[in-house]
Amino acid sequence: MKNNLFSHKLMEDNISTKHLSAITKFIKKKPILTNNVKVKEFEKKWSSWLGVKYSVFVNSGSSANLLSIAYLKSKYQKGEIIVPTLTWSSDIASILHNNFKPVFVDINLNNLAISLENLKRKINKNTVAIFLTHILGLNGLTSEIIKLVKNKKIILLEDCCESHGAKFNSKKIGTYGLISNFSFYYAHHMTTIEGGMICTNSKEVYEICRMLRSHGMVRETTSPKIKKYYVKKYPDLNSQFIFSLPSYNVRSTEINAVLGIEQIKELNKNIKKRNANFIHFLKKLDKEKFYTKFNLNGQSNYAFIIIFNKNYRNIKFRKKFEKILNKKKIEFRRGTSGGGNQMRQPYVRNSLKFNEKDFRKFSNTEIVHHYGYYIGNFPGLSKNKINKLTDVLNNI
Ligand SMILES: Cc1ncc(COP(=O)(O)O)c(C=O)c1O
Repeated sequence: MKNNLFSHKLMEDNISTKHLSAITKFIKKKPILTNNVKVKEFEKKWSSWLGVKYSVFVNSGSSANLLSIAYLKSKYQKGEIIVPTLTWSSDIASILHNNFKPVFVDINLNNLAISLENLKRKINKNTVAIFLTHILGLNGLTSEIIKLVKNKKIILLEDCCESHGAKFNSKKIGTYGLISNFSFYYAHHMTTIEGGMICTNSKEVYEICRMLRSHGMVRETTSPKIKKYYVKKYPDLNSQFIFSLPSYNVRSTEINAVLGIEQIKELNKNIKKRNANFIHFLKKLDKEKFYTKFNLNGQSNYAFIIIFNKNYRNIKFRKKFEKILNKKKIEFRRGTSGGGNQMRQPYVRNSLKFNEKDFRKFSNTEIVHHYGYYIGNFPGLSKNKINKLTDVLNNI
């Protein structure tokens, strides 16, 4: 139901017949379908698009998160990892799974990313890393954050799962941290149906993540030095079956990689269209009702962000807003990324014993949690439809 206002989905036109034909054409050749040459080709193309030396294709953005923290675990026994309260569950779950302590920091409203002032207060001698999330295409980095991690010798990890192509200082985000993670989930900037990428300029991270991706197996490394080390140290083991680290199987397949190779061709063009859509959306949005002062420098939007302004932050308006969106069949997600304040989620609050008083200390995240939304922004969206959407929102 393309361009029908009253069926505005979160995502519509991201897998085309052309993409499906590429998959069919590939399968007809009866190739190996598990992780093989197409995965390598996609990784190479992605590294070149992003501007990093190495990429490791995995089966989701969450698996990319998990392996990044598993890499840290292979280097550090314990410590604290700073995370924003507004992020995805797997950013925090991977910290918990690897027995690090998550330390929460509130966000700024203008870029929905970790707040520098709060961040400074949470850094201490136990801090191993900051796992920064770039939310909904907004750049979360600042020169101060980069300077801070450098001075304090803290590792910077970037979750770019919602922000492919966003830039800080004219350079793509995902090239600043030691490791950066991307998701190719169905509704994102580009898709491999399910999929994720771990990106880095570090040969060591690359080799360890390659092993971690496939059960921790040594034969997965491209480094003869690492292979030699393990074979020599463990002569009682078959060199094909040496499991270096406790790990998982988070590989993807050749089919997903073929889709990735096709999708990356259109990524820049689609990013441009979506950014123009978002700028138009913000221009049309009622500034009295909705917050629009986002820092759009370097943005790469994939979903329209809606946050109520102060006078509208009440349950009555929220109920009315949701009722009208439901009536008009405008699909929406309250809380934006990950449903809002992660501290409120059972997997965090039950294990770390947080309560209502704790949640409320993270005041900007709380605003987004209760009064923040996103709705779909896809490349094929016309200005006319955006106008109709903003008319609905402004008239609530
Ligand atoms: C910020 C962020 N990080 C990580 C993920 C996880 O990605 P995936 O759904 O591919 O596991 C998501 C999911 O959309 C996300 O929004």
